[in-house]
Amino acid sequence: MKVLLLMGNPRKSGVSQRLADIVLEGLVDGGAEVETIDLSPLNIAFCKGCFGCVSSGGKCVLNDDMSGVIASLLESDLFICVTPLYFYGMSAKMKLFFDRLFPLISGTPEHLIGACGVSAESPLCGKKFATISVALGRLPMFDALTKTYAAISESMGLDWIANVRRGESAYFLEDLGQSRRMKRIFSAFRRFGGELARGHVSGETVAEAELELSESEASFAKGASVFWRRYGAGNSKI
Ligand SMILES: Cc1cc2nc3c(=O)[nH]c(=O)nc-3n(C[C@H](O)[C@H](O)[C@H](O)COP(=O)(O)O)c2cc1C
Repeated sequence: MKVLLLMGNPRKSGVSQRLADIVLEGLVDGGAEVETIDLSPLNIAFCKGCFGCVSSGGKCVLNDDMSGVIASLLESDLFICVTPLYFYGMSAKMKLFFDRLFPLISGTPEHLIGACGVSAESPLCGKKFATISVALGRLPMFDALTKTYAAISESMGLDWIANVRRGESAYFLEDLGQSRRMKRIFSAFRRFGGELARGHVSGETVAEAELELSESEASFAKGASVFWRRYGAGNSKI
């Protein structure tokens, strides 16, 4: 299985990176051939919305690092998008990645539209896709992003095989990494990588990876406020 791991996290010392590194170990152990692309430093311009790709049969008018990203994407059997939650959505760079995929689905003559909703000849049709998102808040915080990913998958004809939402991220920056519950979460992320390498993810693994750490909204709010106070002034780790 050829896997493209796309990192949309600007902060490399953060939780998205830490969890993606664990997933990567599981992928490699599971026999996947993995290419990682960090989107942050890449020169990827905003989509101009010119529809030039429609009239040119899928060729973008822009010439930048996105062509290399698309080449890797087309070679992969599965691509995994990792992003922190920024204002209920994916990071800006990850959004830019999706915007710039427009040439791959645009300009499809109607008679070529296949069962997957885009051209049956589209290289994205049926491609396996998985998502990992990280937020400070709890699971309901991811609702808008989950809807966005579902709509993107449908419109691009992707086979969305797994979605892991890792909330309560502040806990992952602390020594709490040694708690029993945290160990269960880390081992679930590793197992998740192994399952992705085989192209099938179990619901139990996702549920373990998403395990809630606070017993209630009230205890989460209390814990979160401690983190904000501790890190707010001067410590950029939160
Ligand atoms: C610009 C910005 C917007 C954010 N928006 C949200 C949000 O809507 N909901 C949330 O729970 N956390 C939000 N956060 C917190 C991040 O999701 C959280 O800190 C996460 O751990 C960041 O990922 P990282 O640790 O990989 O950097 C936001 C953080 C930033 C910097």
